[in-house]
Amino acid sequence: MAKLYDQLMEDHANLARVLKVLEEEIARYGNEERCEDCQPDLPLIEEILEYMHYYPESFHHPLEEAAFNYLIENGICTAQDTATITEQHHKLSEAEEQLREMVNAIDIGSPVPLERLRSHLRDYLDLLSEHIRNEERDVFPHIRELDEEAERHIRQQVKTRMDPLSSENSEKQFSELLRYIDRTH
Ligand SMILES: [Fe+2]
Ligand SMILES: [Fe+2]
Repeated sequence: MAKLYDQLMEDHANLARVLKVLEEEIARYGNEERCEDCQPDLPLIEEILEYMHYYPESFHHPLEEAAFNYLIENGICTAQDTATITEQHHKLSEAEEQLREMVNAIDIGSPVPLERLRSHLRDYLDLLSEHIRNEERDVFPHIRELDEEAERHIRQQVKTRMDPLSSENSEKQFSELLRYIDRTH
């Protein structure tokens, strides 16, 4: 099994690929009138949000929080050191939920202004990018130092789930997103 630090960093690398796709979709807003192919790809945005809910929200963040708890319980970090990052997990989860509602509303024909969706996507992407930077700067160096016993204890606190974007995952979920990433990134 990969070291916890390596696994979390690989998750971040996959997240960065997804964020790049999201960034490109956001950039399409405002171009719709100039070019027909420049319409934001709503089903792709929907799949990105589904992916965020399925893996980062439901497994990656809980695994990190189990690691933070271990670091705090063992005096390696203080609760204050991880407070901002944990707060960001809550904010990200709320923002992702709101975005899913918005995209679903558009799907069933409700009049959600595209500008509103664009600005929410922008905020979400900025918060997630900042969050990843905070984690890698403030807490991951401590996670890198954990021994096998500590990692076993941390992993026991959460239900294992494999990243659908990992090359080792043979389940074919999020195939549209994977195809898109493979084609363009
Ligand atoms: Fe996180
Ligand atoms: Fe993370």
